Amino acid sequence: MVLTPDSERQRICDVKGVPLISSMHEIFGRVEKFQAKADDILIATYPKAGTTWMIEIMDSIRQGGITKEITTIPSHERTPFLELSSMGTLPAGVDLLKDMPSPRLVKTHLPFQLVPQSFWDKGCKVIYVARNAKDILVSYFFFHKITPILPHAGTWDDFFESFLSGNVVWGSWFDHVTGWWDVREKHQILYVFYEDILQDPMREVERVARFLGHTLDNGTIQEIVKHTSFNMMKDNPMTNFSRMPTCIVDVRISPFMRKGQVGDWKNHFTVAQNQRFEEEYRRRMAKTSLRFRTEL
Ligand code: A3P
Repeated sequence: MVLTPDSERQRICDVKGVPLISSMHEIFGRVEKFQAKADDILIATYPKAGTTWMIEIMDSIRQGGITKEITTIPSHERTPFLELSSMGTLPAGVDLLKDMPSPRLVKTHLPFQLVPQSFWDKGCKVIYVARNAKDILVSYFFFHKITPILPHAGTWDDFFESFLSGNVVWGSWFDHVTGWWDVREKHQILYVFYEDILQDPMREVERVARFLGHTLDNGTIQEIVKHTSFNMMKDNPMTNFSRMPTCIVDVRISPFMRKGQVGDWKNHFTVAQNQRFEEEYRRRMAKTSLRFRTEL
């Protein structure tokens, strides 16, 4: 097992009030100027909300099922990561996108206000996946251990506090989910919940297909649900990040596809942490109509 020493990890840098890693800060000028095309589809999430899952669902839908492309090309090559700079053998997201035929799928973790203006000018469709903050917190903590480009998470207690204060890469979960929620009706945005997909994947895949303008027969939807189930994606080298350069995500340390559940937070939060979390949650979410489920 090779753990990256703290000294080699990237620093957090402020980009227009949002903490990002230093390499994203450096490339951000190019990201801002990115020219979206009208048929680009953006998948936007806070980290650990089920991005990779939704990418696999969307790509399978638009290809009409599980094609050769889906079974032979790693997810991160099919769906470039907009704000990621060149790392190891992987070109920067903006460069990968330049050479990609349309219609393109584009991944981002940016909060709404940092998304390049061209996506809105061109009226692009966006799918936003949101997941409850407690499970995100746990998932993000473990993700830091296998992701050498992120700063060191510190102890569980340290990370718990950093997350609540928004001092983590891509910023405050509260601002992210409410920011996207508030603009969902102003643009072509489909707001989807991780917990809903887990509870009723057939319904949610159909909903995403309808939004993307595809009509799929029942058999194809079933095939997509099976292909994108946790166990299938965990064993699939195209989706389990085993093809990702290890300088970005190193699954030799522990799997990217970790648990895929709702409620794992109960195994990690202390009673005091849960209380503290609930108080902060009530304060931060008092004015929004957005509701999450932390158990099914
Ligand atoms: P856990 O760490 O809780 O297991 P992202 O792709 O945004 O980084 O999200 C990763 C999280 O989504 C991980 O959560 C991962 O296991 C979970 N995930 C990925 N594919 C999934 C699937 N098919 N079903 C359920 N959860 C999935």
